Amino acid sequence: MVRQAALRLQGINKRLGNFHLKDLSLEIGPGEYFVLLGPTGAGKTLLLEIIAGIHPVDTGEIWLGGVNLTHLPPEKRRCGFVYQDYALFPHLTVRKNIAFGLKVNRVPAPEAEKRVEEMAALLGITHLLSRFPRTLSGGEQQRVALARALVIKPQVLLLDEPLAALDPRTKEALQRELQRLHRATGTLTVHVTHDFEEAFFLADRLGIIDHGELLQVGSPQEIFSRPSSARVAAFLGTENIYRSEVTYTDGKAFVRLGQALLEVETSLRGPVGISIRPEAIILSSRPQTRNCLAARVLTIHRRGLFLKVAVEAAGEKLTVLVPPREAESFAQAGDGRVYCCIPPAAINTFPS
Ligand SMILES: Nc1ncnc2c1ncn2[C@@H]1O[C@H](COP(=O)(O)OP(=O)(O)O)[C@@H](O)[C@H]1O
Ligand SMILES: [Mg+2]
Repeated sequence: MVRQAALRLQGINKRLGNFHLKDLSLEIGPGEYFVLLGPTGAGKTLLLEIIAGIHPVDTGEIWLGGVNLTHLPPEKRRCGFVYQDYALFPHLTVRKNIAFGLKVNRVPAPEAEKRVEEMAALLGITHLLSRFPRTLSGGEQQRVALARALVIKPQVLLLDEPLAALDPRTKEALQRELQRLHRATGTLTVHVTHDFEEAFFLADRLGIIDHGELLQVGSPQEIFSRPSSARVAAFLGTENIYRSEVTYTDGKAFVRLGQALLEVETSLRGPVGISIRPEAIILSSRPQTRNCLAARVLTIHRRGLFLKVAVEAAGEKLTVLVPPREAESFAQAGDGRVYCCIPPAAINTFPS
């Protein structure tokens, strides 16, 4: 078992042309599966290449446990790297591709042979060992690339959009495979992607990156339900985002939504942004006690077993997802009147 260490990025700055990776600090725990989610051009590949030592930093430090990696050459960093386009050596067999890093590290042949066999078995590619990369499917090539990265027992596994080039079926299978491999090896992993589903499926923790800035770090659940800024909310495609402000009456916090005041749980004051998760809003034919607004149904669309309902309440438009067990009994008065109830805990506030 490899001794586990945390990966710490401290105040990383890097300019490349017009691009600036800004003051990026991040700590990834030993054995953690960390996913960095961001749009194309956000700086994801650059950050991985900085960790791997392919690009030097302008300022800042990279630590792995007690070891300062900042000025170590790539081959001393013990990082495994897997690219979107597999990047296998076309003139080498699968066996030699996987063994490549061991040869570079001068691992004696008998041991190298054993480790290649073990890794091939772990990835289910033993039957492919004598083949050449051009004869393999995309999914098979990516398994070989993963075996090649993992066989050196890396301290850090860096995955750069590893599933992006695969068809949906293969992608789903490999996604589960990554999860299984991670459980089997416990390798600290930094996986970058622009794919939400992939990110939410795999991540222990998630970082949102855009324009060279790390905007928020947290569990997928936290980020999804409590985006910390309008930019994160917008990137996640969050519905029901409003400008608002927090006021206090009798020690209780309220936010404004259109002409209404809603009770909220927050420690912010003054101008804020708010987001309300569509699945947390309750539509009801009768008013309930707290945060219930008279509303009018505008449109209803079926979303699988859910209903997606647009309502107008207090002069604002809200989107509501009605869950399957309530979708059947969902009823509105003939004129489209309902009550729209928003539990205080469902209202996320962020500084505006
Ligand atoms: N060698 C380079 N010279 C100048 N600009 C670069 C270079 N490599 C990357 N960039 C720029 O850095 C930014 C981030 O790129 P990248 O890390 O590849 O983004 P991502 O992987 O998130 O799509 C982009 O705007 C890109 O054009
Ligand atoms: Mg990239």
